[in-house]
Amino acid sequence: MKKNVIVTGGLGFIGSNLIKLLLKKNFKVINIDKISYSSNFYNTKDFNVKKNYKFIKCNINNSKKINNILNKYKPLCIFNLAAETHVDRSIDSPKEFIESNILGVFNLLECFKKFSKKNKKSRLIHISTDEVYGDILKNRSKENDTYKPSSPYAATKASSDHLVYSYVRTYKINAIVTNCSNNYGPRQHPEKLIPKIIYNCINNKNVPLYGDGKNSREWIYVDDHCNALLKIFKSGKNGEFYNIGSNLNQNNLNIAKLLIKIAKTKIETGKNVKIKFVKDRPGHDFRYALNSNKIKKKLGWKSSTGLKKGLEKTFEWYLNNQNYYSKLKKTDITKRLGQKY
Ligand code: TYD
Repeated sequence: MKKNVIVTGGLGFIGSNLIKLLLKKNFKVINIDKISYSSNFYNTKDFNVKKNYKFIKCNINNSKKINNILNKYKPLCIFNLAAETHVDRSIDSPKEFIESNILGVFNLLECFKKFSKKNKKSRLIHISTDEVYGDILKNRSKENDTYKPSSPYAATKASSDHLVYSYVRTYKINAIVTNCSNNYGPRQHPEKLIPKIIYNCINNKNVPLYGDGKNSREWIYVDDHCNALLKIFKSGKNGEFYNIGSNLNQNNLNIAKLLIKIAKTKIETGKNVKIKFVKDRPGHDFRYALNSNKIKKKLGWKSSTGLKKGLEKTFEWYLNNQNYYSKLKKTDITKRLGQKY
């Protein structure tokens, strides 16, 4: 019972990669996932039968079930990765984002507050995003910079970060907020840029870039993010916010070119694999960039995977795991979202 941890959203991209790491470090992991379009049992197939892993279908909005799970497993930590995360979807269906990302977190906080009364050592790590800082045309965002979210998605994450902090101040719960830059790596839903480009390279389709392809993101390999979360769990300070970034900014056009180049060394790409500029995303942030000096200095963590190496590993994973796609709805991969509103 001593080393139980809960991961919410563990059938998703970052959650499943984090579980893999936690199991390697000998924690007992309880994965709580509501099973949505982006949940994929393929992501947990390697440890599904392990005895220190347990899956429970549960929505973070379900207080009765969450209370029972907390009381039964008495986790040392809850890593909250259950969230709606795709900006384009949030443009079409913002309500789902409010329900999961705001009301879900509110419910989790209420349950955790109650649980914490008798389990004072337990802590909640709320995983958030660099998108809360909004469009960063120059310099890099620090932890105390103003939140200025541009999309409904980012606004719901900003809101949940504020809620977590308010519970730390008001009810003295043990909680930490982490704000990470754009992740990529194995098991990411192909609605997102990098796995979408890889899917299209494998399937001889155009690579759609929004606008002129000059928008810039700070790309971090998912394992680096998970290592940072583990470090924060072990030595992070309650009530603090930590930025987690790689310092590796790249525009979308360069990412697409790099991936097409990698694809050509690994497969015979079809003649349709070409960059195609398409209508821009409404409200599209030009650049995100984090200053991650705090986690580097205070906790001694830094990201270690170079972009080329990380992209190669990611491409190879999708190439060797094409059954991953068969568990997803094809329209969720190919349909352009965020245009009808
Ligand atoms: P995305 O992966 O959706 O992450 P986020 O918007 O949360 O950063 O998009 C990353 C960047 O890639 C963003 O600038 C939008 C762009 N993009 C495209 O150009 N084409 C695409 O098909 C997708 C999904 C994204």
